[in-house]
Amino acid sequence: MNQPTSINNEQSRLSACPIGLDPHRMPRHIAVIMDGNGRWAKAKGLPRVMGHRAGVEALKRTLRLCSDWGIKALTVYAFSTENWTRPGDEVKFLMALFERVLQRELEALQEEQVRIKFLGDLEALPARLQVLIAEATESTALNTGIHFNVCTNYGGRRELVLAAQKLAERSAIGELDPALIDENLFAAELFTASEEDPDLLIRTSGEMRVSNFLLWQLAYAEIYICDVLWPDFDATAFREALADFQSRCRRFGGLDPVPTDF
Ligand code: FPP
Repeated sequence: MNQPTSINNEQSRLSACPIGLDPHRMPRHIAVIMDGNGRWAKAKGLPRVMGHRAGVEALKRTLRLCSDWGIKALTVYAFSTENWTRPGDEVKFLMALFERVLQRELEALQEEQVRIKFLGDLEALPARLQVLIAEATESTALNTGIHFNVCTNYGGRRELVLAAQKLAERSAIGELDPALIDENLFAAELFTASEEDPDLLIRTSGEMRVSNFLLWQLAYAEIYICDVLWPDFDATAFREALADFQSRCRRFGGLDPVPTDF
């Protein structure tokens, strides 16, 4: 007799979990600062942009692993509000790369039931990219697989300012009593509204900074920094990050460990 899908899903999650990791204590949501593309290229005597191209392969690999290992959401920092200050050619290359990848990968994302969203000030992006983003977001909105959030022209401070503006506007027209603004109402105005906060932040290439990424949402995330450059981030490096995560004792500001058995 066929087993119900939910049992099949649970069984495949347990069997796909890498040896040495506890399938019940995987992070639900992982955020990644994909750093080191330029250094990876430089070390190989290649132009910086080749590092970004290799970075896309690392991203595809990581998304697939997250999906296979039962992680519910992956949020990556693809382009920050500060990245516009890079040389014009590099910015142009990145925008064209985002377009190409979206066009090329949308079908595979659909097949794997990925729900993709782009978080950030999207109106400043090239018009063609905005159209592709809208199409990808809309056509994957009902997918039931992993939530894949691509932070593009994203800045944590900007996100907080925009949320404050929206709440102030609603208060000014009498729709909202300012005294009722709490953490839930505030979080609902962020780009990540309805997504749970990340449990784990991974930053590659050894830099120990948050770099204006998910300033609100990372409040209680475990932070993992590795020396691996982003294009080299593979299943082994990812497994090490997850093993480190599972060795942490999460207390969320209290004294007792909070069970993280999902
Ligand atoms: C940081 O490395 C990386 C970026 C600013 C770009 C990341 C973008 C990708 C991996 C492509 C993603 C594609 C899609 C479609 C989402 P860096 O250039 O700052 O490296 P460096 O610190 O070594 O110079």
